[in-house]
Amino acid sequence: MTAHIALLPGDGIGPEIMAQARKVLEALALPLTFDTAPVGGAAYAAAGHPLPGATLALAREADAVLFGAVGDWQYDTLPRHLRPEQAILGLRQQLGLFANLRPAICYPELTAASSLKPELVAGLDILIIRELTGDIYFGQPRGRRSAPDGAFAGADEAFDTMRYTRPEIERIAHLAFQAARKRGKRLTSVDKANVLETFQFWKDVVTEVGQQYPDVALSHMYVDNAAMQLVKAPKAFDVIVTGNMFGDILSDEAAMLTGSIGMLPSASLDANGKGLYEPSHGSAPDIANQDVANPLATILSAAMMLRYTLGQEEAAARIEGAVQRVLASGLRTADIWREGTRRVGTREMGDAVTQELQR
Ligand code: IPM
Ligand code: MG
Repeated sequence: MTAHIALLPGDGIGPEIMAQARKVLEALALPLTFDTAPVGGAAYAAAGHPLPGATLALAREADAVLFGAVGDWQYDTLPRHLRPEQAILGLRQQLGLFANLRPAICYPELTAASSLKPELVAGLDILIIRELTGDIYFGQPRGRRSAPDGAFAGADEAFDTMRYTRPEIERIAHLAFQAARKRGKRLTSVDKANVLETFQFWKDVVTEVGQQYPDVALSHMYVDNAAMQLVKAPKAFDVIVTGNMFGDILSDEAAMLTGSIGMLPSASLDANGKGLYEPSHGSAPDIANQDVANPLATILSAAMMLRYTLGQEEAAARIEGAVQRVLASGLRTADIWREGTRRVGTREMGDAVTQELQR
């Protein structure tokens, strides 16, 4: 059956890295069709909104969404509801993408790129599972933020409410236990139960769900300690599950352990396994249109899409194998380049992976 992929390249380096991922997907010669739509600042410029109705409709109808990145300086002064970031928040909410999977893997060839000592990160392979449609990100009320000028001139208070419901915690907990079951069978639930009611509740519900997974070792950790342990002994973790806000912060921290945020893919899944796939990095407008961005995170996101949504495990593994061999052959984009390796541009990196696939 033909699978229909929505490509949403977005802003900054988005279009360049998306072009490489599409090339790699096309080289697999699977029955895939593609449609592209604007999102983020590019969509605001073209249609007056960061997530136009037509783009949302395309994402809804598609079997899977491959997303580039959004954001550019020129849109920073727009009112909040028109900012590029609203596009990704809107897609997460509208498509019910409650589970965000962010692997942090330290590739053997890139160990030296980490800011930590090589022995701390060599062989690192952790998975952060971030709840994506609840918490303070989607709390109530949010009304005051949509003041027409997006500012708070004259205001003397602002607030965001932190909130989780039982079903929200249960579904992400089940997904996390199941993911841990397929890996090292260790799950760390990160909370702030010593201070916040929301996260005492989180901890209790995760513990309850855990009774159904006696084969997975569950532990609990406060978020401040987790931030510390991630740089002290990151390999002690297997799977981490946490809320939206803590997950946002910890996943950036974990990504940097690998020294190469340009390498890390992510998946955001709904209850049926449909998903949106995107690189963990942002739109990097400072290096846009210079053929220097690393396309590998987007290419690896395409591999995750094949695995999690399209059921094409073999094709996913082929892409990952090709990326590994290209790295082993010494090719590097600027972000991961070191003395003794060969520096290539965005397009050449995409071409190298494509050729490796066809070998
Ligand atoms: C992320 C990003 C987003 C978030 C922004 C762009 C809204 O930081 O995907 O981690 O905060 O979730
Ligand atoms: Mg973030």
